[in-house]
Amino acid sequence: MDRTSRKIEHIEHTLKLPSKESHSFDDIKFVHQSLPNIDVDHVGIHTNVGELSLSSPIFINAMTGGGGERTISINRSLAKMAKKYNMAMAVGSQMAAIRDKNERATFEVVRHENPSGIVISNIGSEATVEQAKEAVEMINADALQIHLNVVQELVMPEGDRHFSGALDRIRDIVENLSIPVIIKEVGFGMSKETATKLANIGVNIIDIGGSGGTNFAKIENLRRDKSFDLFNDWGIPTAAAICEVKTSQPFLSVIATGGVKTGLDIAKALSLGSAAVGVAGLFLKELHQSGDEGLELTVHRLHEELKMVMTVLGIKKIDDLRKVPLVISGETFHWLKQRGIPTKNYAQRVYPH
Ligand code: FNR
Repeated sequence: MDRTSRKIEHIEHTLKLPSKESHSFDDIKFVHQSLPNIDVDHVGIHTNVGELSLSSPIFINAMTGGGGERTISINRSLAKMAKKYNMAMAVGSQMAAIRDKNERATFEVVRHENPSGIVISNIGSEATVEQAKEAVEMINADALQIHLNVVQELVMPEGDRHFSGALDRIRDIVENLSIPVIIKEVGFGMSKETATKLANIGVNIIDIGGSGGTNFAKIENLRRDKSFDLFNDWGIPTAAAICEVKTSQPFLSVIATGGVKTGLDIAKALSLGSAAVGVAGLFLKELHQSGDEGLELTVHRLHEELKMVMTVLGIKKIDDLRKVPLVISGETFHWLKQRGIPTKNYAQRVYPH
């Protein structure tokens, strides 16, 4: 199957698969405060991710491009929303346009719609330094994402089987690019071991891309005649992955992606230590079901809900959200306990005011 048709199939199957009922964020609870002593207007949501300064901690994560007209139209809508709400936006893998120049327009539309916004390039870990530079130049990107998707490739009928040397190629790219490089998972979660390997080669931003949201094992299985179900429940849940990476490599900036659906999810992800939160599947589904207007309502709702949660907690800035106590239960509690990450350190944090 050609790459263009594959991109469209990924979109179709994402739209078909139902969202999971439960999520690791359900295991995280804030401690209610009855006297927050602030107004909603006092809440600010500016954040920094490494050297990137973002007006909103919510960003539109990598999805598409490289699938002809339909992907131009999706990227145009997403880019317009990114501009309107001052959100950063990553494009889908640009390997498609590096291999077939006719697909460049499907990515270029994002920069065209949002000339001065924060736009992020995306390539796979098979890419060379030259390909990374080409991707960045294509959309005049402010940062570059390199995705790690071994499980997806293994389940993908036409997927890659060669994963050696990825860390060395990432190191070359990090050393030869002058913009921030973000290493991201695509929904199977980043472990502390992976984060340590990446930190040791000079990476300082990681998108933990945890499980609980879009599931690329299931998506690729829908594209197979005979399915490989063994990976359908594989992966580190988003909440646990944030803690894995942040407790082992506290100086890394973490972006949390994987099943984010509400402003409360976002507040929890930020409170666990993330600097920003990526959303992919939810935005794609809203755009498909309810068009630009529906997408905008969702983006607006997420921002409002985040501000409401911060107000209840009496928190005026994202930095302080990372200091409030959190009680962790359920599977996330057991995961962290067995991985030697003390949950008491979250529950007994001292309020910042
Ligand atoms: C993705 N994702 C993705 N990631 C990436 O780095 N490069 C890519 O090309 C794509 N392509 C892609 C297509 C579609 C249709 C979807 C839904 C997603 C993964 C995405 O950035 C994100 O990591 C996961 O989808 C998990 O987040 P959600 O969907 O649970 O919010």
